[in-house]
Amino acid sequence: MIYRQTVAKEVSTHPWRVLGGSSRASISTKTSESLEGIPDGSIDLILTDPPYFDNLSYSELSDFYLAWHQSLGMAEPPYDNPAIAAPIKENLALTDRGDQSIEVYRNSLHRIFCECRRVLKKDGIMVFTYHHKSPVAWDALGDALVRSGLKCATVLPLRGEGQGGLHSYDGTIKWDAVFVCRKGSQVPSASSDNAVVPRTAIKQAKEQASAYAEDLAKTRQIGFRDPDRLNLERAMIVASAVIAPTHPDFMPLSDALKTSSTGGP
Ligand SMILES: C[S@@+](CC[C@H](N)C(=O)[O-])C[C@H]1O[C@@H](n2cnc3c(N)ncnc32)[C@H](O)[C@@H]1O
Repeated sequence: MIYRQTVAKEVSTHPWRVLGGSSRASISTKTSESLEGIPDGSIDLILTDPPYFDNLSYSELSDFYLAWHQSLGMAEPPYDNPAIAAPIKENLALTDRGDQSIEVYRNSLHRIFCECRRVLKKDGIMVFTYHHKSPVAWDALGDALVRSGLKCATVLPLRGEGQGGLHSYDGTIKWDAVFVCRKGSQVPSASSDNAVVPRTAIKQAKEQASAYAEDLAKTRQIGFRDPDRLNLERAMIVASAVIAPTHPDFMPLSDALKTSSTGGP
């Protein structure tokens, strides 16, 4: 109880109290598609971890925890009502790979990235992680990112899974790609131009991902394997995407992502 009272004093639901110095932290349980209450250009660092396309059904799984929170009287309204389930509609994760669902994911993620760009300071940094086996999952992420006006400064591999894991098998990606992004000078205008990748950047992504694989493979316990190399290569391709008219020196992002394949460099 003492703990709850102390925390209650220092944690607020209003982000501006943190910015004004009267709270140490602010917690909101809601979709990131709108970060209302956080002023433009006020944030130094955003660290986030969006749903990896369709890898996990977060809302459905969190109904289990919600039931516990409800019975302990800890769930916030309206979720203190046992008749109300976890907010599935606002969950970014896909439950099928139909064109419409992919479009909803892409658009929602785009709104989230635009909000992140809006609240970042001019020299602020946004860092997020991602991994997926499918080029369509990478295309949706890349398109949302490049249209938001965030620019990727670098991509790094980071071990995301432990040695075991119930959802792990031989082809499982164990290493996430970490994107480090900066606020671009402008948001690309909503044009009919596509997300494209310079052909030279595709070659570079393959070389860089292979160099990481070669280096990390020297220590077997690190466990950086071919699915991880492929994942990193796709992340690096996404990081170099831009919105531009069709040109022979560029390839559409969706096609560039399909040039990557398993089985080594
Ligand atoms: C990859 S997981 C992050 C896991 C977290 N890093 C951890 O270690 O527990 C993605 C998270 O995004 C949340 N999420 C899904 N849709 C969201 C949305 N529209 N806005 C904010 N968060 C969302 C999910 O509920 C899930 O907790």
